[in-house]
Amino acid sequence: MNSPYEHHDYDILVIGAGGAGLRAAIEAKQRGLSVAIITKSLLGKAHTVMAEGGMAAAMGNVYSEDNWKVHFRDTMRGGKMLNNYRMAELHAKESPDRVWELEQWGALFDRTADGKILQRDFGGHRFARLAHVGDRTGLELIRTLQQKVVSMGTDVFMECKVLRLVHDENGRVAGAVAYWRPTGEFVTFSAKAVILATGGVGKSWKFTSNSWESTGDGHAMALWAGAELIDMECIQFHPTGMVWPLSVRGLLVTEGVRGDGGVLRNAEGERFMFNYVADMFRAETAESEEEGDRWYEDHSAGRRPPELLPRDEVARAINTEVKAGRGSPHGGVFLDIATRRSAEFIRRRLPSMYHQFMELAGVDITREAMEIGPTCHYIMGGVKVDAETAATSVAGLFAAGEVAGGMHGANRLGGNSLSDLVVFGRRAGIGAAEYIAGGAGPSGFDLAEVQTAVKDALAPFDNETGENPYDVQRDLQEMMQTNVGIIRTQSELETAKEALGEFAARVRNLKVTGGRAYNPGWNLATDLPSMISVSRCTTLGALERKESRGGHTREDFPKADPEYGKYNFVHSLSGGNFDGEIRTERSALLEMPEELAQLLEEAK
Ligand code: FUM
Repeated sequence: MNSPYEHHDYDILVIGAGGAGLRAAIEAKQRGLSVAIITKSLLGKAHTVMAEGGMAAAMGNVYSEDNWKVHFRDTMRGGKMLNNYRMAELHAKESPDRVWELEQWGALFDRTADGKILQRDFGGHRFARLAHVGDRTGLELIRTLQQKVVSMGTDVFMECKVLRLVHDENGRVAGAVAYWRPTGEFVTFSAKAVILATGGVGKSWKFTSNSWESTGDGHAMALWAGAELIDMECIQFHPTGMVWPLSVRGLLVTEGVRGDGGVLRNAEGERFMFNYVADMFRAETAESEEEGDRWYEDHSAGRRPPELLPRDEVARAINTEVKAGRGSPHGGVFLDIATRRSAEFIRRRLPSMYHQFMELAGVDITREAMEIGPTCHYIMGGVKVDAETAATSVAGLFAAGEVAGGMHGANRLGGNSLSDLVVFGRRAGIGAAEYIAGGAGPSGFDLAEVQTAVKDALAPFDNETGENPYDVQRDLQEMMQTNVGIIRTQSELETAKEALGEFAARVRNLKVTGGRAYNPGWNLATDLPSMISVSRCTTLGALERKESRGGHTREDFPKADPEYGKYNFVHSLSGGNFDGEIRTERSALLEMPEELAQLLEEAK
């Protein structure tokens, strides 16, 4: 292999250092393989930390009635039945083991009075099921996995941005080409298998809980490399992001606030969620505040408060209240935990929220209500994978965590992300290791692909004139927020589709000045092609899905249509470039075995 750049060779390359990437790397290392983790950010700084409130697993520590079947049922119902049932089944069965494993590796979960791992309530979960560490669970998960992976001697390449995957002459994935952010120098990696664990896409929207890393790199690289993406129209707007001050608009306010007893009120003081209970959830949702209150004390003594409906339902309700003129001064609604819980309880259970509001907004949440509104948080859609192995349709390429699609269907339940990361991160590590053991690894490394990626990356320096990447990013975020936001219509989606064609042309015409070392403008220029590819798939899927389901709401088709409930939309690319032609096709959902379908009967 004669790479003209710094070159490294591993058995497995893991791209992304969040929960899924770290767990995959641990599994592969345990099997004696050489593994590198590449992250464009720093180790310990992944969107995983934004899953604050907990990790869902049917351990039955708080409610002994809980088990994997109930968790499976809740997940499928939360996903409005669009999920890959096998992923939801594996996830429900394997999550408890992954929590216990984290504990063995040093995670310090909160405890029940008798010393078990404590579990808290979250929306859409029938029982208190989220193992947690105050409101810093994602951080604890990352801290634990990071310590483990580093102690195993895994190589970690930080501040190293992967541009494209590289194939061999038979179309198998054989590695990747990247550059070091600190120096701008290129680097190539050959590997027998590559695991994508790059997280989400939220930075294509204006108001998001995601930080700068979430630009859909893995989704886009998979698409460019020949893999398929599914359910890309399904975007989760978490109901509770900060709305004020503007500088932090979108920052997450954990669902743990509602799980621990926080209620939502509009500007008139009305607990409006009682007005938004869909038929599907009516039988188990409280009809009065008193009934909801009783449920917090004993889950068998009442029905759940409506604030704990799944996220898509709550986010839409907030959106409607604000549009109807019943919003808070800064365009959200009020989230109040101070009325129900003591200051000591709030500070103990929600220390980060207390600190966040105090420091950033001057609001003492032990005494005052928070102003909150929906924020783009998560994409349910992603790379189409095999449930057992996390393999994509491209040989040698695997995907796990948020970058993979299918597990959550049209809407993810809170807390199911952290468990998804470790369940399928582990499976991706095993899948990749077995693929290698099967001897089907790559033969060669296509240097022409490397050179094309390098040329494209450097183009913004070579262009005589062109646009500032920050202007393009700002306009893209504004456009996606306006036209492909929480509520969608045909005309706005058509506007978005056309605009994205123009954005692609603008991305071809970027101008970057200065050198390559630590050049954030250039770094953004290399992210923008991914953001365009992802936004195109989301828009195309949203145009095709002429119904409302989970994280995809069409004002012009406000109901779920059973016909659309039979398939996913699958995107594939011709040409391999971000502005190539995207095909969007229907693909029938996997057929669920009878015994699992039985579990869902009551959910219909
Ligand atoms: O609200 C939260 O703590 C987020 C959790 C999640 O996205 O799973």
